Amino acid sequence: MARFAVTTFGCQMNKHDSERLEEVLSGAGGELVASVDEADLVVLNTCSVRDKAEQKIRSEVGRLSVLKRRRPELVLVVAGCMARQHGAGIIRTMPDVDLVIGPDNIAELPELLAEIQLGGPPLVRTEFDLEAPTFLTALTVASRKPTAFVTTMKGCDERCTYCVVPQTRGPERYRPSDEVIAEIQQLVAAHVREVTLLGQTVNRYRDPAGKLGRAPDAATDDPDESEFAALLRAIAEQVPQLRRLRYESPHPRHLTKALISAHCELPQLPRHLHLPVQSGSDRVLKRMIRRHTRAEYLERVSQVCARLPDVTISTDIIVGFPGETEADFLQTLSLVEQVPHVGVFGFKYSPRPGTAALRLGDEVDETTKSDRLQRLFEVSEASMARHLSALVATQQQVLVEGPSKSRAENLSGRSERNEIVHIVGATHLDIVGEVVEVEIVEAYKHSLLGKLTDSERRRARTKQDGSGRQHLPVVSGVKGAAPPLFGSD
Ligand code: 5AD
Ligand code: SF4
Repeated sequence: MARFAVTTFGCQMNKHDSERLEEVLSGAGGELVASVDEADLVVLNTCSVRDKAEQKIRSEVGRLSVLKRRRPELVLVVAGCMARQHGAGIIRTMPDVDLVIGPDNIAELPELLAEIQLGGPPLVRTEFDLEAPTFLTALTVASRKPTAFVTTMKGCDERCTYCVVPQTRGPERYRPSDEVIAEIQQLVAAHVREVTLLGQTVNRYRDPAGKLGRAPDAATDDPDESEFAALLRAIAEQVPQLRRLRYESPHPRHLTKALISAHCELPQLPRHLHLPVQSGSDRVLKRMIRRHTRAEYLERVSQVCARLPDVTISTDIIVGFPGETEADFLQTLSLVEQVPHVGVFGFKYSPRPGTAALRLGDEVDETTKSDRLQRLFEVSEASMARHLSALVATQQQVLVEGPSKSRAENLSGRSERNEIVHIVGATHLDIVGEVVEVEIVEAYKHSLLGKLTDSERRRARTKQDGSGRQHLPVVSGVKGAAPPLFGSD
């Protein structure tokens, strides 16, 4: 099997899939190399949520085609959402691609590559595993990172009119809770301290094996209640060594009473919620078929804030959705200001093939989209700056993930709420994978700088001087850290 490289575009789900791709290829005898120049096999794990992502991938395929002209034995694989979206169209428009493989077909990769290496024509395999869904489990033996992703569901049954995901990832399929818990137990045994549960509408979870039921305080008359809170409680109970439990991406409609209670009662859950609202205008929300109103979003948020007073919230916003007027956009700005949003991921609307919004026509022009994105950005940056500077001189519990990417002399990690915290003067201490107490000394634009509190420093030294504590070796860089706080497109 070849020397291979995997390049990832898009969301956390894709990053998780790429890790599984690497494991499947390594398991078949492949050797992971750091750059495509050293590889005989290149997998592009693609995203098609916006046109800009697709353009980037097409130009990457163009670059690899040049390489392939020099090295005809180079095998090119297009995986992920774009593969499913365009299927054989990829081979037609990019004839240097040898294999197109969908998100549910990762396990078949070695056998498909074997067929190609026998001299067969380019192949396309993009079936959904509807009858017997599989969820590839992380092989943790080699894992040294304190954080990991675990899939709990895949696909999406919502029909937001702008979104291509239901086409690229298929209908919702849920993973049995005992499989989820078993994977987390394995990860924790391999020193993982924080798990992020992944799913397109992660808080709509229900256990296909029927082992969970609803959480004790789930409202029986709320159709949006799911078994997600019960899953969180089962994980917390059955994997007590797990320090932190995050999840993404939730749908605001399923931020129910039971889920808020879980946040109040389980110390593993963050005091932070990412709640994509997309627009602050009811008219636009209706055209997006988000199936909640502005008032319902605000109501859910105020219920959370009332019960978890220091919670922070981030959101996703689309600007320039078909028919969005200046008045609609002002509603969005006012919603972003009204809620204590500390992060806004803003995107210009991008028409996607096969989506219902295409029929709405009436596109907002590019200049207006850019202008609205910029104004949104200014509001969100100001609230981020207010939030981060208010944290100076406070103490935060930080899970240390490894050396800081920007400055090797610092360590870096995340607070309970998910702020990025750089820790000065601690690289000589074995605290990677530990939750430590940090005093914040400075606020940067998108992160914080802090130092270990005196008592934490003493504790770390004492441990290091001879308790025989098990610790994690320092890993290079904080992989997957610091998503952009604001969409760049
Ligand atoms: N255009 C722009 N942004 C989009 N998103 C999803 N589809 C589109 C689109 N067609 C954004 C939404 C979603 C995030 C992951 O990407 O804000 O929450
Ligand atoms: Fe797309 Fe809406 Fe499903 Fe999110 S909930 S993946 S935005 S269709």
